[in-house]
Amino acid sequence: MQKVKILNSKDGYNLTADYYAKKEKYWDSFEQYQVVPLLGQVKDREILDVGAGNGRLSLRLAKAGAKVTALDVSEEMLNKLKSKNQKIKVVIGEAEDLPFEDNSFDIVIATFLIVHLKDLNLFFDEVYRVLKPAPRLGSGQGGKFLLTNINQRKAPEIKTEQGLVEIESYYHRPEQVIEDLETLAFSIEENKFVKEGETWVNQIVLVSK
Ligand SMILES: C[S@@+](CC[C@H](N)C(=O)[O-])C[C@H]1O[C@@H](n2cnc3c(N)ncnc32)[C@H](O)[C@@H]1O
Repeated sequence: MQKVKILNSKDGYNLTADYYAKKEKYWDSFEQYQVVPLLGQVKDREILDVGAGNGRLSLRLAKAGAKVTALDVSEEMLNKLKSKNQKIKVVIGEAEDLPFEDNSFDIVIATFLIVHLKDLNLFFDEVYRVLKPAPRLGSGQGGKFLLTNINQRKAPEIKTEQGLVEIESYYHRPEQVIEDLETLAFSIEENKFVKEGETWVNQIVLVSK
């Protein structure tokens, strides 16, 4: 049997960026086009897409008039995004140590990212910090955070020129994701499940600061 090499996200996505880009419709099927509508009006909003990859969602949000910043550890994934849109600001960086000022964004999204993060609290803390706060007066809410959590207990094996590889992944229980967000003082607005038959395949969560 062929040995499978386990790679970290940076090396893994740098190596498999072409493979990922070819499967856009497949990734979409886990969301059933529910992510962008959940964000409401995005025109002129400052949006941070963490683990933006090749820009599957960044590109759609920019097209809808949002001011998008796309952050990722993989330069190969971000290169694919840049080849399609030069206006989106791209930043190489880590989800757990966001290189942005406090209170900078109206919206943060992270689709199919947390499956690669071991400690969600480090990332959620950073999201809370960079989101704009709720206004002191009036009824408006603070910045919003949308994440998706794929139901993946075993990382897929991908065939590459370096042989079979797997990208380091972690399963996160949906209840734990919600508990962690609430502990950090986020308010839960939506907690939806995309299902195939009786089985959930993706959790979509929208919270506000
Ligand atoms: C499954 S892809 C998702 C891409 C895109 N968000 C989408 O929905 O199609 C996961 C992305 O997260 C990035 N990533 C993984 N760990 C990361 C980390 N700690 N910080 C920033 N990006 C990370 C990977 O490089 C990859 O581009």
